Amino acid sequence: MAKIIGGVGTSHVPSIGAALDKGIADSPDWKPFFDGYIPGKEWMAEKKPDIAVVIFNDHGNTFFLDRVPTFAVGVADHYDPVDEGYGRRSIPSFEGATDLSWHFVDKLVENHFDPLVCREIEVDHGLQVPMELFFGRPENWPVKVLPIWVNTIQYPIPTPQRCWEMGKVLREAIESFPGDERVVIMGTGGLSHQLQGSRAGFINREADEDWLNNIANNYEKFRDMSREDYVEQFGSEGAELIMWLVMRAAMDDKVDLKMKHYHAPASMTGAGMVVLENL
Ligand code: DHB
Ligand code: FE
Repeated sequence: MAKIIGGVGTSHVPSIGAALDKGIADSPDWKPFFDGYIPGKEWMAEKKPDIAVVIFNDHGNTFFLDRVPTFAVGVADHYDPVDEGYGRRSIPSFEGATDLSWHFVDKLVENHFDPLVCREIEVDHGLQVPMELFFGRPENWPVKVLPIWVNTIQYPIPTPQRCWEMGKVLREAIESFPGDERVVIMGTGGLSHQLQGSRAGFINREADEDWLNNIANNYEKFRDMSREDYVEQFGSEGAELIMWLVMRAAMDDKVDLKMKHYHAPASMTGAGMVVLENL
């Protein structure tokens, strides 16, 4: 059976990728943010996973508002970075973990989830940026990817509780997969931000710190909150944090919080990460 070697929660803000593209990651504005990810990158290099499951949302780049799946899973053999309006970024394509993807889709349907199954699709900053933060800028990515898209863009978004249930199925799929692959699970999005409306620019440092401190071993309140609670506490786009719950639910009930990092603001968001290991 494949093995979960750890879980990561991280921001996926597009300007992080833009900072890398422009070579300004060492500027006074960005250095404190990127420095906090150095231990995360070292952890990943040491753990050497074979597959990264990345839970993220598309931002109108691959799915537009005319058709928005609540949950989608990639089963493609590769995923190109999508052109988000500035041309395709010069990062490598992502190789698909096709067999695990199909196995996961099968487990989802068996458990009464009905995902959109994507044989051919591109990926936006929601997947690209977490990969760059934890794997750097290699010539080729050292892992295959299994992308999971969650609608956090157009209401109604799925409930936090549904994301939690999906994480349980993800764990079942990984642990019943015939093979010895090492799998890291990356929940992405957040932290607090709101890009639009009367609260545009909203950041809630207190709620962000509380999230980072408690998602490891005091997760129940986050699992049980309503979607409205997420919007109120973290902002309309900060509700992306529900995607970390897929990762958290796939881990053990008690976990080791190996590291955490917070920096605000990064672009218009509270930003940061956690790294979790099963005990
Ligand atoms: C920003 C943050 C996001 O999470 C995102 O997906 C897009 C933009 C921002 O702060 O600019
Ligand atoms: Fe986002």
